[in-house]
Formats: sequence, C-alpha cells, structure tokens
Amino acid sequence: MGTDGPMLIEGPVEITLPDGSVVRSDRFTAAVCMCGRSARYPWCDTSHRRRPPRSRRGSQRDAE
Ligand code: FES
Repeated sequence: MGTDGPMLIEGPVEITLPDGSVVRSDRFTAAVCMCGRSARYPWCDTSHRRRPPRSRRGSQRDAE
C-alpha cells in the first residue's frame, strides 16, 4: 500500500492550480502528482520514486 504516488484520473481532465492557471491533459488516464516533487507538476513524472536527497557527506557541522 504505497502512500506515495500519483492520483490517477480519467481524462481528459482540467486542473486549476492554486495560482489560478489551468492545465489540461487529454490522456485517457492522467497521473496527478501528489508528492509535489514532479518537474512537470501537476503531472506525475515519477519523481516520487526518488528518495529525497539527503546530504550524507560525513558530518555536517554548521559553525554557529
Ligand atoms: S506523485 Fe509522482 S512525481 Fe509526484
């Protein structure tokens, strides 16, 4: 039961983004990004499969 991944919607579909712009997909099935990592947001580009980058280069010491 993956919690990460797109929401599949039967197309064609129109989506209104928070900024008011409208995007449309004419595909039979549109995959809407739910993770927010897609470079093609609001469409899923499978970026959700990638682990969020974590810098693991040894000790990260912020001199404060
Ligand atoms: S759900 Fe797939 S890239 Fe966000």
